[in-house]
Amino acid sequence: MDDPRRFLDRISTGYQDAIILLAANHLGVFGALRDGPRAVDDLADDLACDRRALEILLLALAGAGVLDRFATGQFATRAALAPLLDPAGPDSIHSILDHHHHLLARWTQLATVVRTGEPAADTAAPRTGRALRAFICGMKDISRRSSQEVADLLPELGERRRLLDLGGGPGTSAITFCRRWPGLRAVVFDLPEVAPIAAEEIAAAGLADRISVLAGDYHVDPLLREGDEPYDAVYVSNVIHSLSEPETRSLLARTAGVLAPGGLLVIKDFFLADSRAEPAFGARFAVNMLVGTIGGKSYTWTEVESCCRALGMCDLSRSCVAVNSGVLTARRPRER
Ligand SMILES: C[S@@+](CC[C@H](N)C(=O)[O-])C[C@H]1O[C@@H](n2cnc3c(N)ncnc32)[C@H](O)[C@@H]1O
Repeated sequence: MDDPRRFLDRISTGYQDAIILLAANHLGVFGALRDGPRAVDDLADDLACDRRALEILLLALAGAGVLDRFATGQFATRAALAPLLDPAGPDSIHSILDHHHHLLARWTQLATVVRTGEPAADTAAPRTGRALRAFICGMKDISRRSSQEVADLLPELGERRRLLDLGGGPGTSAITFCRRWPGLRAVVFDLPEVAPIAAEEIAAAGLADRISVLAGDYHVDPLLREGDEPYDAVYVSNVIHSLSEPETRSLLARTAGVLAPGGLLVIKDFFLADSRAEPAFGARFAVNMLVGTIGGKSYTWTEVESCCRALGMCDLSRSCVAVNSGVLTARRPRER
């Protein structure tokens, strides 16, 4: 630990830097700076913001090293950050930042959540409009790179013919896998309100002939279309952390039920060590699930492995991908 006072100051004021960045992203500052440096007056008109207030925000962003401020008084996004912050860029993280902006209201209720044990007030209401799109397209921002890493890690996925991307959101992983392996077909299963976003993404990737979208509730609706063969791989990425333990057991049992003998189950999530305090990201993410879901949490590797073994799955294996994610693979035995 560095100086104890500095250590606590850094943690306790961290929300200010975060909100300055998230508010700027939400207001469209980085999109407005896409084509180069601009003056405050010009930006304030374009973004329909109060000039004085916007200038204070831009100066704070410059102080934090997110923007450059030139002698002319103009501002520009720092070159190294522009590809990530430009909402239209191929590596953009605009949507996931907007999702974090929507989550702020829940996080501010944390003390009450801990006192009552109930999630934040708005969690029962389904996401709609901009919040829904930020969440689902935010998943694309996260999965764009991690699904490539999963593909590198699991070349055996390329030997499969039919993959279910369960709770697949915008279909980023199915798209990545099908691009990598031309012999693979996939079904993206997600809620009816999410299915059109997945269909848009799949069409934009030119893969509508190999990836279909199945809309439904994975707790109750069939995960397999009538007459279709079972899947020989199922990918469950960042899904179980929203679920309680009984829900996770039930969903994994439903998943195993649509997997062909010898089929591969791949579960990617923010797995914790048995201590539940490491890695720090997973322990912090558990708080996100505490404020935002009824029974969700960060699972330990051991918990999910026990669940897979109880379902008769074999050949369990752990790997790490991306910065904070783990991948657990398990196989349905052939003899069943
Ligand atoms: C955190 S996102 C993960 C998306 C994607 N798998 C990924 O890793 O990028 C969880 C996904 O589960 C979907 N989901 C949540 N509840 C669901 C349900 N009851 N039935 C089907 N999908 C659901 C959400 O709409 C969302 O797309």
